Amino acid sequence: MSRNLAVHKGEKTVPTENKIRWPVIIEEDKQAVMEVLNSGKLWGPYAPNCRGLESEFAAYVGTKYCIAFNSGTAALHAAVRAAGIGPGDEVITSAYSFLASAVAVLHSNGIPVFVDIDPKTHNIDPGKIEEKITEKTKAIIPVHIEGTPADLDEILRIAEKHDLIVIEDAAEAHGTKYKGRNIGTIGDMAIFSLNTTKNLPGGEGGLFVTNNVEYRGRANMVRMFGEYMEEGEGRSYVAYTLGWNYRTQEMPAAFARSQLRRLDKNNENSRRNGEYLSRELAKIKGLEPPFVPAHSVSNYYKYRLRLKPKELGLDIDPEEFRDKLLFALREEGVDVAIWQTKPLVSNPLFQIKDGYGSGCPWSCPFYNGDVIYSEEHYPATIDLLKNSIIVGSEEYPLFPQKLTLMQQYVEAFRKAFDNIEEVLEIDVSKFRRAGVTGRAEEL
Ligand SMILES: Cc1ncc(COP(=O)(O)O)c(C=O)c1O
Repeated sequence: MSRNLAVHKGEKTVPTENKIRWPVIIEEDKQAVMEVLNSGKLWGPYAPNCRGLESEFAAYVGTKYCIAFNSGTAALHAAVRAAGIGPGDEVITSAYSFLASAVAVLHSNGIPVFVDIDPKTHNIDPGKIEEKITEKTKAIIPVHIEGTPADLDEILRIAEKHDLIVIEDAAEAHGTKYKGRNIGTIGDMAIFSLNTTKNLPGGEGGLFVTNNVEYRGRANMVRMFGEYMEEGEGRSYVAYTLGWNYRTQEMPAAFARSQLRRLDKNNENSRRNGEYLSRELAKIKGLEPPFVPAHSVSNYYKYRLRLKPKELGLDIDPEEFRDKLLFALREEGVDVAIWQTKPLVSNPLFQIKDGYGSGCPWSCPFYNGDVIYSEEHYPATIDLLKNSIIVGSEEYPLFPQKLTLMQQYVEAFRKAFDNIEEVLEIDVSKFRRAGVTGRAEEL
């Protein structure tokens, strides 16, 4: 019997040569890094590329201050410390995020408290925040997940009512907007990541932004061994608080500066691709494209597509359906991925409640709360992560791709859904042994 899908030896839909690998590195990027090497100046808090990146990104976002860090996690940790969060304090964040959103709180001896998501936007559900606020709550970290802004008006209203600081985790949201305002300028502070997968890649790195001079000063102390420095002032080598060495270096800073010049263009391309996929994939029964509110501008950092096997009359375990489809699409040549499979609370770190020994920070005598980390409190997050896949991968995200590739992707989706019985025949046990991020060709 002849079969249609590539997984069953049918013809492959998407040719590999049509894909553009991320990050796209052009001559100017190479020159910028070579100039650093030629100058011999590779490091320093006031080195020209670190300062240049800070001032150019502050101007890009529209904040008074920007400080460059060696990761988004470090920048978030510094923001949490700048907010004065410490032993016994609780900080609210989204149940669906990358670990760093919560870890930055633990590193400050604070306690992360998770709130379930809005199933439509995949962002923290503002309607569920207030029930988690206690007298210990000090801040909210909304995460602009997948590059789509969280509902900041509602979050800020709640924060003001309860006197809480808002730190935007914009690690995934460079160049995005909420109601006409740039993400990064709306909360008290914000951070962005420069890791290579991001729309603004720097190898590794992070950027902290704020309009508040005190927050800037405190975050800078955390970055620099606890030393206090006015902007442009030399080092004193005197520590006033516990700090780390979170500085970035000249080569990644020069590379990120060069990439920043193309961020808007790449984001525009990413939006064009994301919107095209949404229009076309919505026509296929059993698929629900991501929702971007009309007042927001997303950068489609991750394109999360919801699967609805019930619409096809299928009574199948959602993860099994997801994995079968993933396998079928990869064999067709579509870059699809799974990113995060469970809410953050499911990590053993939170189940065991032991960060750095002796149950700290949860066992800290200053903490008199009793946060509960129970998976069943996060049904919307669990449902989303079981029933969705990411279109695009870290190697081949949407931002640099041509529209013709998106057209081929849609064709591959149509083929898979037109031959759904062939998808259902796939044995995913081999694929699962390779791990959720394992690629079909590595089996
Ligand atoms: C939502 C979120 N927060 C924080 C981070 C941490 O950034 P980095 O990897 O630069 O430490 C990331 C990125 O990886 C992220 O996706």
